[in-house]
Amino acid sequence: MSNARQVVFIAGEGIGPEVMAEVRRVLDRLVADERLAIETREALYGAEAWRRTGRTVPEATAAALESADAILFGATGGPDYDALPAEARRQGNLLRIRKRLDLFANLRPIVALPALAEASSLKNRVLAGVDFIVLRELSGGLYFGEPRGIETLPGGERRGVNTHVYTSGEIRRIARFGFELARTRSGRLCSVDKANVMEAGQLWREEVAALHAAEFADVELTHMLVDNCAMQIVRAPGQFDVLLTDNMFGDILSDAAAMAAGSLGMLPSASLGPRRADGRRAALYEPVHGAAPDIAGRDIANPLGAILSLALALRLTLDAPDTAARLERAVAAALATGVRTRDIMQQGGTPVGTRGMGDAVLRALEGA
Ligand code: IPM
Ligand code: MG
Repeated sequence: MSNARQVVFIAGEGIGPEVMAEVRRVLDRLVADERLAIETREALYGAEAWRRTGRTVPEATAAALESADAILFGATGGPDYDALPAEARRQGNLLRIRKRLDLFANLRPIVALPALAEASSLKNRVLAGVDFIVLRELSGGLYFGEPRGIETLPGGERRGVNTHVYTSGEIRRIARFGFELARTRSGRLCSVDKANVMEAGQLWREEVAALHAAEFADVELTHMLVDNCAMQIVRAPGQFDVLLTDNMFGDILSDAAAMAAGSLGMLPSASLGPRRADGRRAALYEPVHGAAPDIAGRDIANPLGAILSLALALRLTLDAPDTAARLERAVAAALATGVRTRDIMQQGGTPVGTRGMGDAVLRALEGA
């Protein structure tokens, strides 16, 4: 094994392969330009892996997931995936990867780039200075709680069950992550729950407050109910810095918050596991947009969510913060030239496809 950091690409389904092709080009360029000690390889996953190997997560992929420093993930889901047998689907589920690698901390930065103000559904004055992180607990709560399932009751009626459950340990580890993150930013954290109705929400609030009092009194902590938070995100998103919340609420609020960034297609994410004894942690980076099968294979998808996810990987896992900043500058510069994929189109914009946007970022890297 060399000392180089190992990056594994998983393109997945839907628009995953086409956006990841652009990420690949960008990373290859950065590695060449800056002589970064990074080795990349691709791993098969999902429907494509099933077709070729009869498994959605072939052994080589499972091994790569375990050993990678950073996993760059495209997207999964859509008709190809749905057509797989149930067992294959269960095995190759993104939620399974999150659980298996214990990726409990999901960061979704929301930045309103001035160039995209017109693409946003929100007013210009509301967007000024918007720069916050939705920190979503990713390995617990309603997504994984037991009991779960669909059962048939004696009278013939059916009942669907999911369980919203959090332990104090699960709450504290994501809250600790949030407070530490807040310390690296403006020192403010807003914790979002439904403590007025749910016991799990009440515990959430108590544990966050207790950890704050014990170890993070220097961070400014506020609590907000999730329904109010949904409104505040569209009313005044500039008020947030680190927004800490659970798995389900984080899923919903991050889609709403995407509008401040102009489009869901712009949002990157990082999913991190606990720090291991050697200081490293499992890390998976993926655009928030998902597979979008309706536009797959048509060179329409916005690759910037995936490209900005690479920037997060460079900063958080690959020890290349300057390269990350250079890439983010290049994305802003590319947008400033007026190129627009469909999802961020505005009057006077220059229409480009997935590849064209990748080209624009590569060009902008020259001056960034
Ligand atoms: C997300 C997605 C996923 C989620 C889906 C694809 C399972 O919506 O990452 O936000 O609900 O977590
Ligand atoms: Mg979602």
